[in-house]
Amino acid sequence: MKFGHFDDKNREYVITNPQTPWPWINYLGNEDFFSLISNTAGGYTFYKDAKFRRLTRYRYNNVPMDSGGRYFYIKDEDTIWSPGWKPCKTELDSYECRHGMNYTSIQGEKNGVTAKTLFFVPLQTWAEVQKLTLTNNSKEKKKLTLFSFTEWCLWNAASDMENFQRNFSTGEVEIEGSVIYHKTEYKERRNHYAFYSVNAPIKGFDTDRETFFGLYNGFDEPQVVARGNPANSVAHGWSPIASHCIGVELLPGESKDFVFILGYVENDQEEKWESKNIINKTKAKDTISRFDTAAKVDAAFSELRAYWDNLLSIYIVNSGNEKLDRMVNIWNQYQCMVTFCFSRSASFFESGIGRGMGFRDSNQDLIGFVHQIPERARERIIDIASTQFPDGGCYHQYQPLTKRGNNDVGGGFNDDPLWLILGTISYIKESGDFTILDEIVPFDNNMSIAKTLFDHLTVSFDHVVNNLGPHGLPLIGRADWNDCLNLNCFSNDPNESFQTTGNKTEGSKAESLMIAGLFVIYGKDYVELCKKLGKTGEAARAQIEIDKMTDAVKQHGWDGRWFIRAYDYYGHKIGSNENEEGKIFIESNGWCTMAGIGQEEGMCRKALDSVNELLSCEHGIVLNNPAFTKYYIEYGEISSYPPGYKENAAVFCHNNPWIMIAETVIGRGDQAWEYYKKICPSYLEEASDLHKTEPYVYTQMIAGKDAFKPGEAKNSWLTGTASWNFYAISQFILGIRPDYDGIKVDPCIPSTWEGFEVIRKFRGATYNIRVINKNHVRKGVSRIIIDGRLSDSNLIPVFEAGTTHSVLLEMG
Ligand code: BGC
Ligand code: NOJ
Repeated sequence: MKFGHFDDKNREYVITNPQTPWPWINYLGNEDFFSLISNTAGGYTFYKDAKFRRLTRYRYNNVPMDSGGRYFYIKDEDTIWSPGWKPCKTELDSYECRHGMNYTSIQGEKNGVTAKTLFFVPLQTWAEVQKLTLTNNSKEKKKLTLFSFTEWCLWNAASDMENFQRNFSTGEVEIEGSVIYHKTEYKERRNHYAFYSVNAPIKGFDTDRETFFGLYNGFDEPQVVARGNPANSVAHGWSPIASHCIGVELLPGESKDFVFILGYVENDQEEKWESKNIINKTKAKDTISRFDTAAKVDAAFSELRAYWDNLLSIYIVNSGNEKLDRMVNIWNQYQCMVTFCFSRSASFFESGIGRGMGFRDSNQDLIGFVHQIPERARERIIDIASTQFPDGGCYHQYQPLTKRGNNDVGGGFNDDPLWLILGTISYIKESGDFTILDEIVPFDNNMSIAKTLFDHLTVSFDHVVNNLGPHGLPLIGRADWNDCLNLNCFSNDPNESFQTTGNKTEGSKAESLMIAGLFVIYGKDYVELCKKLGKTGEAARAQIEIDKMTDAVKQHGWDGRWFIRAYDYYGHKIGSNENEEGKIFIESNGWCTMAGIGQEEGMCRKALDSVNELLSCEHGIVLNNPAFTKYYIEYGEISSYPPGYKENAAVFCHNNPWIMIAETVIGRGDQAWEYYKKICPSYLEEASDLHKTEPYVYTQMIAGKDAFKPGEAKNSWLTGTASWNFYAISQFILGIRPDYDGIKVDPCIPSTWEGFEVIRKFRGATYNIRVINKNHVRKGVSRIIIDGRLSDSNLIPVFEAGTTHSVLLEMG
């Protein structure tokens, strides 16, 4: 069952039933100021950091679901309704929500009145703009009372949810004209406040939550709205809110626009005050004046649309398959921007307070984002590398506001350093900018122990070399990519977190075959980079380590039909046919085959056949099998999940593309494509009632074959699935791959395909690439013509910026 449809021309998903199986959300803003917004206008707003600078409150996992947001209440005689259906839930005569690229518009209609809301964060602006258009479609004059509503968060989203003995006494507001200012804690250590304005005279306002709602009422029945009159309440402590009340008269056929602005201001210490205890409002007024008419808002909205036209013009496929094209050209790239901005911090599954930017996560996110805005990727790489330790290890996460490593989580995840090599080389291949390697980058944010970024890559490589176990394979540390394979944790205390509890790495024999595969791949990339830089000695030294690792994998990592996953603390195999449960895992098989380890001996093909036989199911490839059915203290969190969920045998979508890419390495385009379709959101749209989450974005997991309800997805938006799928489809299946000296075209597709076209902008030039598959092969190039001339290489050179070139590639 569907709850809407794609509108590809406008790059929107159109939701036509507000009662989606789960709130279907969108993200506003892509630089400093952000909002999450559901299809019923739920969600919240923050500046840079969802934990430390939360502007508005949201109630996660509440009853009813999706509680808190920017709400409008329209009182038309005795009927009270909201354009987004919630929170009033008054039945609407029509409803439509359009989620687009960093904007959402929600339109409702009731008793002859249409209310259309448009929400977006204008470029380079610290504010969410909300344009509300009320239209009277009836034959009568309408006299309406309009109420806005938003609830302030007392800045730190974590303490806001727990420290009530303090919070209930700190809240402060100011009201001036049609603007409500939230200034809690401004008088002491904060230099920031928020505001909520409207560009119209108001009948009154409310800023005290209990006065507005009534202590025992829900969001659906504010007593002030029922009465039809504002109380002009001024919050002192408790829970400050912002609500405007506006009287609206509409003649038949008449429309009126209202612009609401929810904004954030920072003032220098000397400029904080206008007079004693009265905040300096200059900057707020500047922002308000930039959007004080509907025409100004429309102009800013056009700029946002043009911005996205441009971003999405860098990689455009025309395959003739609309489900594929809309993912590659619109939604997958959009999701990559969102994961770039938020890592794993703020979604409807991530509370925004638990996790900041992940070291491994943010590096992986770059592979789907770097072509969009390479300069921002560059900045990100430096930020991430600055949280590395001198020995190559790293903080697992850092806070976006402070850019400091997060001590609560610490480090010790032994895969982390290698992802920095991936992030960095992806940037250089896209941009051609080698100067990033000369940047002086601190360790642990300490400039006195800074070294070049290239040196950071060297210590990343060496961190593996210096942490080998008894079989010459990488020690796993706290965990590798699989956060839940906690081989040194041995936790039997329900009050501790698997992720942060003390780790018994001393004397441990726990080794990871996934890190081994990663090391061989990114080690080879490191060697290639060294050679490019003329560092032949370093290249040779590194190559020796890679060869040793390759041998160690072949000798100690092969189980006969697939690669084992790991050795545990005691040196016993995991992911082996010898095991009763968890006989085979995706990760080691994906990485060792992508690395081509044992390709001549047939290991790669055998491993991928085993993955297909033992892990693939209708909904995708499950992470491991058989699922763990009991708790193994020596494996940790993975065995804490019921079978079929999360890391215990769910379809963990992040790692399915590893198998897709591995299939392209051995040339099986049909198989890669089959896997691609299984987890591709646009292919799952028809089954939205089972799938539950948004049909336009990837989820972290889909319940696996062993679960109670296979096919049900969870944890949409913030997942490495976004960038890995874009990487797999764009660079390996369609096969358009940036390289140091040009773009490589090397498709690996189903033999039934006739071909496809891609427009790729690369270092300023435009490549119009046409792939023809007359011979119906899956991989291989028979002829390549660049600008009308036969070429003997499928590496298309770098061209002068501003020029356009045609590439014709015949497969065969
Ligand atoms: C989840 C992982 C996640 C980890 C870190 C675990 O509970 O299963 O997917 O990476 O927490 O937050
Ligand atoms: C989600 C985490 O963000 C990511 O870092 C990890 O690799 C996966 N879960 C797998 O555990």
